[in-house]
Amino acid sequence: MSFHSGMLRDRVALVTGGSRGIGFGIANTLAELGACVAITGRDADTLSRAASDIASRDRKAMPIVADVRDFEAVVASVDAVVSAYGHLDIVIANAAGNFIVPSAEMSPNAWKSVVEIDLNGTFFYARAAYQHLKRSEYGGRFIAISTAKAREGWPGCAHAGAAKAGVYSLIRTLAAEWGSDDILCNTVSPGPVGDTDGAVRLYGDARRAEQEMGSIPLGRFATIADVANCVAFLCSDMASYVTGADLLVDGGRSCGRAMHR
Ligand code: COA
Repeated sequence: MSFHSGMLRDRVALVTGGSRGIGFGIANTLAELGACVAITGRDADTLSRAASDIASRDRKAMPIVADVRDFEAVVASVDAVVSAYGHLDIVIANAAGNFIVPSAEMSPNAWKSVVEIDLNGTFFYARAAYQHLKRSEYGGRFIAISTAKAREGWPGCAHAGAAKAGVYSLIRTLAAEWGSDDILCNTVSPGPVGDTDGAVRLYGDARRAEQEMGSIPLGRFATIADVANCVAFLCSDMASYVTGADLLVDGGRSCGRAMHR
């Protein structure tokens, strides 16, 4: 067993929020390694452009419109993948919502909106995919994209921080409950990822970006590829004894070594 270019051949993967940013990067990488991918999101045009982009390189990609907050739509999206490809082996719960607003000014609806996307959406996909992942001949994989901030407080993003902390706990529960079904459940927790809309929104201000960068021992933000490669590892046979883990992809930021350059 070793790393090789077709290491996910014949596996079917569903990536939520797969039309843009980190989700698109993950879907593209899994497809490059041989998986048939389905990407979900809310906007049909963006999804179909992203799926065509992936498929243009002689890979299989399927766009599915589904809001992760709508359990019926979630079930329908999982069923559509299984109807099209015959099975489902990997789910990447990537879809997320976030914006900066101090807790004292956050409306209840703003809180609800982000918690529903980040936490409920992850549970809904786990719940809808379970029976299929259990039947996977490769061993099912359920991976949630979290954040290094799930282990700390996240001033300005209480909703996303709390939701991701919930995801952190949920995935560990699923790892324990589903280990005997040969479904491996893990989180991947990036620090700031430079080439995303989220980073522009959260660290767009040059002073804030510089301050954040100063806290990263490797001296740079992550790239989408840094995150996608770690996800690919967890999807592969090389990670067949890894479950209940959180793979930090934060350049050492959470080690707390402030670097002043
Ligand atoms: N600051 C403060 N409150 C905000 C806000 C912001 N930047 N953006 C949204 N809200 C509030 C809204 O005012 C609303 O609350 P209200 O009804 O009390 O006014 C509530 O959040 C829901 O907003 P709405 O736009 O209706 O939610 P939605 O369900 O359509 O979308 C998001 C929610 C998170 C997806 C949306 O805000 C968004 O597109 N964010 C950017 C994309 C994103 O988050 N990507 C992930 C990067 S990690």
